Amino acid sequence: MLKIIVAHDSAFLIGNKNKLPWKIEEDTKHFRKEIFEQEILMGRITYESIKDFKDSFNVKKIIVMTKNLDYDSKDQNVLVFHKVIDVLKYAQDKDIYICGGSKIYQLFLPYVKEMIITEIKGRYEGDSYFPLYNNKEFKLIKTEKLSDRASVKYLVRIDKKDSLFT
Ligand SMILES: NC(=O)c1ccc[n+]([C@@H]2O[C@H](COP(=O)([O-])OP(=O)(O)OC[C@H]3O[C@@H](n4cnc5c(N)ncnc54)[C@H](OP(=O)(O)O)[C@@H]3O)[C@@H](O)[C@H]2O)c1
Repeated sequence: MLKIIVAHDSAFLIGNKNKLPWKIEEDTKHFRKEIFEQEILMGRITYESIKDFKDSFNVKKIIVMTKNLDYDSKDQNVLVFHKVIDVLKYAQDKDIYICGGSKIYQLFLPYVKEMIITEIKGRYEGDSYFPLYNNKEFKLIKTEKLSDRASVKYLVRIDKKDSLFT
């Protein structure tokens, strides 16, 4: 099963010059807790922005998406995928946390069953956004306040069989 984990501001901003636009300790702590010993997937650009401290994440595996068939992550614990279909097959019997960035969220949004979204209050400067999605396709399961500036929403995709509208 695929799950998105993301933090965005009030205007759905997620990144600035290949970095997070903010430094919010409570969200970093929440992120680390959610992905602890999990398999996480990210785009090549996000991977390169975090690779110097990736070992501090305590994850089971990192999967990197790139179109470059010769891409070498220089880490034998990192799996490289080139096609969405291969990720979907790989994720059939396990949970994969989709960790961005913008292109990768867009690519996998149609397939995710859950989203863990930190809403950061206010508007920041930046250049990468979370894609638009239809919030009627998701049900809010719970919210958790991390602090006055950050809250987490846990969403699950509404199974069409259970929907009143189909
Ligand atoms: N706030 C958050 O929660 C959060 C989380 C993560 C990242 N971010 C931010 O997001 C920004 C980066 O986002 P981004 O969109 O520029 O980059 P990205 O999504 O991290 O990576 C994009 C790369 O993924 C690969 N890719 C894209 N489509 C593909 C496909 N169909 N098949 C195979 N590979 C594919 C390509 O790599 P190649 O070029 O090698 O082919 C592409 O350049 C940064 O600012 C980062 O800080 C924010």
